[in-house]
Amino acid sequence: MDIEQIRADTPALADMVYMNAAGAAISPEPVYNGMAFILDEESRMGGYHAHAKYTQELEVELYTSVAKLINAKPSEIAIVESATTAWQKVFYSLALTWNKGDIILSSTLEYGANLVAFLHVKKLYNVDVKIIPDNEFGEIDCQAMDAQIDDLTAAGKNIVLIAVSHMPSNNGLIQPAEQIGKIANKHNIIYLLDACQSVGQYPINVKKIGCDYLTTTSRKFLRGPRGNGFMYVSSKQLETIQPNVLDFFGAELDGANNYKLRKDARRFEQWENAYTLRAGLHAACDYALDVGMHKIWKRGQIVATKLRAAIAEIPQIHIADLGAQQSSIITCYHENKSSKEMLTFLEEEKIYLALASDSSAPWDGEKRKLPEKLRFSPHYYNDENDMDKVIEILKIAAQ
Ligand SMILES: Cc1ncc(COP(=O)(O)O)c(C=O)c1O
Repeated sequence: MDIEQIRADTPALADMVYMNAAGAAISPEPVYNGMAFILDEESRMGGYHAHAKYTQELEVELYTSVAKLINAKPSEIAIVESATTAWQKVFYSLALTWNKGDIILSSTLEYGANLVAFLHVKKLYNVDVKIIPDNEFGEIDCQAMDAQIDDLTAAGKNIVLIAVSHMPSNNGLIQPAEQIGKIANKHNIIYLLDACQSVGQYPINVKKIGCDYLTTTSRKFLRGPRGNGFMYVSSKQLETIQPNVLDFFGAELDGANNYKLRKDARRFEQWENAYTLRAGLHAACDYALDVGMHKIWKRGQIVATKLRAAIAEIPQIHIADLGAQQSSIITCYHENKSSKEMLTFLEEEKIYLALASDSSAPWDGEKRKLPEKLRFSPHYYNDENDMDKVIEILKIAAQ
C-alpha cells in the first residue's frame, strides 16, 4: 500500500492527526471531487437534467460499485439516508409479520438506536428481546446461542430475528459474524447485521457471512460523505419482504387503484434523492476498491494493534476493549482524569478523536459500568508519525 499517495489524496491529514474514522472519517479528494462535479452540473442545468445526463453513473455504476464492495448483486442494494434509516426500514418492515410473544435475539453490545427500536416493538406488538450469552471475551458465544435457540424453540417460542452489530462503536470487539450466520441459517432465522463500523474497514462478503440483511453508513470507515448509507437485501428475502413504507419509486402505480412492488432492493428507496451525496458514496466505494479492502484491513490491523499496545503502556490509562479479535476502535480511560478533559487536551494539539459513552451500547454500559471513554479510531491512512504524536501527547495528558 502506497501510504504517501494515500495521504497525498487527503491533504487535510498533513495538518493534524485524525483518529475518528468511527465517527466520520476524512474523505479522500476523489470523494469531494465526485460530489462537486454533480453539484456543479446541477447548478448549471438543473437537478433533473443533470440526473438525466448522468443516469448511467448514478443509477447503474454506483450500484455496481456498492455491490462489489460487499460481494452482493446490484439488485440487492438500496441507498438511503443513513445506517439507522437502513436498519429501521428493514426492522420495521419485518415487524409487519411479527406476533405477540415472538422473540428477537441480540447481543449485549447492540447499538443504542437499535435498542430503542427493540423497546418500541416490545411496547407496540409485545415482541420480546433476549440477549445472547457472551463468551469470556465479551463476544457472542455461538455455542450458547445455538443452545438458546433450541431451548426457546422447545418452549414453543417463535424467534423472528437475530440482529447483531458486527463491530460495536463503543469498544474494539468484533462479533463472529460468519459463525452467527451459520447458526441463523441452520435454524432458518432471519439475520440482520449492522455493519456500520465494519464496511470500509473490513472486507465484507455478505455471501460468506450468510446474512439476510446488512446495513451501513457512508461516512465512517468507508470515507464517504455524511447523509447517506445503504442496505443489502438478499435475493431470497426480496421474494417476500414488503417495505413498511412505499412511494411510487418503490412501487409502480398500475392505474389508480393498484401498484406493483419493485423487484429489486430499491423498493426501500424513495423517489427523491441527494445525488451529490450519492456521487460521493460512489467515489468512496471506488476508492476503497482501488486501494483494496484486504490491504485496508491488513494495514488497519497493524496500526490499531500497535497503537492499542502503546496506549496500554501509559501509566494510569486503561484499555476498555473487549474481544479476542479486535477492530480499529480503541477505547481507554484515565484512572483520575475525565475523558472530556483528556480529549480537550489532545484537540489543542490537533489530535482528533471522540468520546465513547454508554448511549452507543446501553446494555454494555449497564454491565461494565465504566466511566466515559476516549475512543481512538485510526484508519489505514494514519502513519508512524501520527502514532508517535498520539503517544507523546497522551503521556503528557495523563500526567
Ligand atoms: C454500530 C453502529 N450502528 C449504527 C450506527 C448509526 O449510524 P448512522 O448515524 O449513520 O445512522 C452507528 C453510528 O455510530 C454505529 O456505530
